[in-house]
Amino acid sequence: MFNLDKLTRENIQKLVPYSSARDEFSGEAKVFLDANENSLGSPLPKWYNRYPDPHQQQLKQVISTIKGIAAEHIFLGNGSDECIDLLFRCFCEPGKDNVVICPPTYGMYEVSANINDIEVRRAPLLDTFQLDLIHLENLVDADTKIIWLCSPNNPTGNSLNRQDVEAVLNNFNGIVVIDEAYVNFSRQKSFGQELPDYANLVVMQTFSKAWGLAGLRLGMAFASTAIINIMNKVKPPYNISQATQEIALQALENTGQVNDMIRELVDMREALAEVLAQAPGVETVYPSDANFLLVKIKEARKVYDFLLGKAIVVRDRSKVKLCEDCLRITVGTEKENTDLIEALQEWVETNVQEKVVEN
Ligand SMILES: Cc1ncc(COP(=O)(O)O)c(C=O)c1O
Repeated sequence: MFNLDKLTRENIQKLVPYSSARDEFSGEAKVFLDANENSLGSPLPKWYNRYPDPHQQQLKQVISTIKGIAAEHIFLGNGSDECIDLLFRCFCEPGKDNVVICPPTYGMYEVSANINDIEVRRAPLLDTFQLDLIHLENLVDADTKIIWLCSPNNPTGNSLNRQDVEAVLNNFNGIVVIDEAYVNFSRQKSFGQELPDYANLVVMQTFSKAWGLAGLRLGMAFASTAIINIMNKVKPPYNISQATQEIALQALENTGQVNDMIRELVDMREALAEVLAQAPGVETVYPSDANFLLVKIKEARKVYDFLLGKAIVVRDRSKVKLCEDCLRITVGTEKENTDLIEALQEWVETNVQEKVVEN
């Protein structure tokens, strides 16, 4: 049975959270002398002299309307990376508990675990890049608090089979995080609508990908109110700045533009995949539900270095298990994609010439 009290660290259950000035008074007033702000103002023409809303209520309302998820099921973090760290701090006892990850996957689950002194258990993906449910189940014990799933997965680009994810949600009594950072580029339905069915589900999304706001640092976690309340207890009081809240609200008025960008990126992803698949040296372009492609290519490291020499940076994943000889390539602008293809063409020509000279 899922028991959130049992899952939550004892010190967090007992924690009396910080009560900010904005928590203790949130009504209308003329004079604010309660938070030791600078009453004279700031060098900016805005109200940045004031602390922001610690609960980001306006922003959550708008996100709630767009996502169809009630505001009390939404947590906002300084990037999804803050949500990841907070989940460890809320539920995993350092030096005792463990979590399961399914590599190759996003690196921060493991880094955050290490920072928090939590054991990481690995159930590598199958060579189809899908979950190995049997291995996963065998790793779980009474101290397993979180299973981290990423769909679409980074760096493989594929979505996890929905039935597999449901099997994990149904059979694991700890927390199942589904990181949907790339879900907007996929035809898969978000698990956000499944919250009423799963008390153990946490869905993470971010403004860093489809929304084009990686520089803003804004991530979302959707979960039961009980889980959200625990995360709220632990977060720093003003974790989302006034500037971030304002800019995000502006961005959220432009869903049309974001949808256009998503469509364009998906079209370019498919076009780039087709061209790359024909490029000499390319062995596999893996199907992608994200805004990047995982490409198996001969002499991946050398290709990486050659591209770097042309001032084109891709991600070398060739040392990662199951991604041997692979580069991860973000879909760029039309021009950037063309530059990449031309550089790869040049690499092949230079390489062929060098081989002829060697012979
Ligand atoms: C799967 C996944 N989750 C989360 C993140 C980080 O998101 P954020 O920028 O919101 O911290 C990334 C960034 O690359 C990612 O690939």
